[in-house]
Amino acid sequence: MDMVEVLIVGAGPSGLSTAACLSKFSIPYVIVEREDCIASLWHKHTYDFLKLHIAKEFCELPHMSYPTDAPTYIPKKDFLRYVDDYVEHFNIIPKFNTSVESCIYDEARKRWVILARDKVNGTILDYASRFLVVATGENSVSNIPEIIGLQSFPGETIHSSSYKSGNDYVGKSVLVVGSGNSGFEIAYDLAVHGAKTSITIRSPMHVMRKELIHLGMVLAKWHIPLKFVDFILMVLAYLLFGDLSKYGIVRPRMGPLLLKAKTGRSAVIDVGTTELIKKGDIKVVGPISHIRGDLVEFEDANERCYDTIVFATGYKSNVNMWLKNDMGMLNNDGMPKNDFPNHWKGAKGLYCVGLGRRGLAGVAKDANMVANDIHDTIEMMSFN
Ligand SMILES: Cc1cc2nc3c(=O)[nH]c(=O)nc-3n(C[C@H](O)[C@H](O)[C@H](O)COP(=O)(O)OP(=O)(O)OC[C@H]3O[C@@H](n4cnc5c(N)ncnc54)[C@H](O)[C@@H]3O)c2cc1C
Ligand SMILES: *[C@@H]1O[C@H](CO)[C@@H](O)[C@H](O)[C@H]1NC(C)=O
Ligand SMILES: *[C@@H]1O[C@H](CO)[C@@H](O)[C@H](O)[C@H]1NC(C)=O
Repeated sequence: MDMVEVLIVGAGPSGLSTAACLSKFSIPYVIVEREDCIASLWHKHTYDFLKLHIAKEFCELPHMSYPTDAPTYIPKKDFLRYVDDYVEHFNIIPKFNTSVESCIYDEARKRWVILARDKVNGTILDYASRFLVVATGENSVSNIPEIIGLQSFPGETIHSSSYKSGNDYVGKSVLVVGSGNSGFEIAYDLAVHGAKTSITIRSPMHVMRKELIHLGMVLAKWHIPLKFVDFILMVLAYLLFGDLSKYGIVRPRMGPLLLKAKTGRSAVIDVGTTELIKKGDIKVVGPISHIRGDLVEFEDANERCYDTIVFATGYKSNVNMWLKNDMGMLNNDGMPKNDFPNHWKGAKGLYCVGLGRRGLAGVAKDANMVANDIHDTIEMMSFN
């Protein structure tokens, strides 16, 4: 059994940030990752045209800025280069192909006991650590809703995490399920590549431009009340987009920044999708009622045939599958019970980073808090 001070599970932005913050205190750690690369979500499960929606100064990992000549909204390939530089700069060496399968707290030894599988040769590795940092992300399992008759659909069904480009769908009839950022961007990409595209919209949502959100974040930084900032954003959005309700897009009562702060739900950043919806190139449909063969029936009794369904229906946390004793830190969905910003600490040296629904800015904040807390705890232990 390997004795370690801190075990970090996951080498995405959260795990890497935590590693960097710990190394500032010279606290030894081991970081394990089930895939064979860092930031695997970004490498393997995002589409090629992805860009950060938030300006770069709000998306930095701790202790390292983006290059000054980097664009304001960082494209996927630049983000990956930044993360590579980050790992090199802090000399982070994750143990790849290593999937954590169970963690339990051993009261007698006052340590976390971790079992991980080496995915290449199947051996089980065991670790005993004083501190355990959950950094497996909000996006570790693809979420596909249960829909009656989905098994009978003869065409292709994919999750947004496997979607790469609209090139593969020219002339096809495609239904995008889910109207978050991924759904909106994929629908746009499909339509401009000449797919006959529909998107389902179920609940009220804010449609914004990235520049508007940026303006809002800057104003909020100057301590202008969110309610007032939201009012400005909604007026500007109305001037930009007009009334979208006739296309099935209804605004929530609460403003976009307040909604994000209260619930973690983000506004959708328009990349041109609304223009295509107005032109009729993308058809908005309601929620699906059921599927019969290639025929999809909607709750409003309309029906249409599709070749492909893309599920942009989000992700789930996988923590409950391997963390056998979460010390009350998490709920049934494997997400923190406590609200942001009090969500990152459990009991007995257990922490989570990147589960606060606050994007990369939240990741950086969590990692700093967790490393500081581990540092303080170690100081206190050596003092006693
Ligand atoms: C399409 C898309 C676009 C996004 N755009 C933005 C954006 O513009 N701005 C923003 O701030 N955020 C964005 N996000 C959110 C994104 O999740 C975060 O930016 C960031 O990737 C979160 O980092 P993380 O380390 O917490 O999680 P992840 O990046 O998901 O990393 C978790 C890692 O843990 C590993 N892991 C999981 N389970 C185990 C296990 N049992 N054992 C070992 N390893 C395991 C995974 O393989 C993964 O590498 C986007 C997400 C998606 C899907
Ligand atoms: C991880 O596994 C992949 C595929 O099995 C292999 O190609 C790669 O070399 C492995 N990486 C490490 C660091 O073991
Ligand atoms: C399995 O691979 C790991 C490295 O990934 C190595 O440390 C270990 O010795 C290997 N076990 C066997 C039985 O080959």
